[in-house]
Amino acid sequence: MATFYSQFRFEPLGKYLIKICHGTACHVNGSIKIAQAVMEEFGVREGKTTEDGLVTLERVACLGCCSLAPVIMINDKVYGKLTPDKVRKLAKKLKEGELRD
Ligand code: FES
Repeated sequence: MATFYSQFRFEPLGKYLIKICHGTACHVNGSIKIAQAVMEEFGVREGKTTEDGLVTLERVACLGCCSLAPVIMINDKVYGKLTPDKVRKLAKKLKEGELRD
């Protein structure tokens, strides 16, 4: 029964939940490159958590801030108008503990 509902989780979430938007606005503005950069930085695929439990990546349809596309959300904070370079800088801050939650 629980496998029917996508909101049930069977693994614990990482300290940081990164939602990567793949909605239409984000898609046409390069969400695939953003997702690739995030996955490369953390070494996990969407839907997975890093072995150290730091980050969980989640693929989402729309975060409701399409004017900022492409967008990701880290815990409750939205980061928009992203480029792969900006993602790498964000990831570096997160890994170094400099990103405020
Ligand atoms: S499509 Fe990405 S925020 Fe709406």
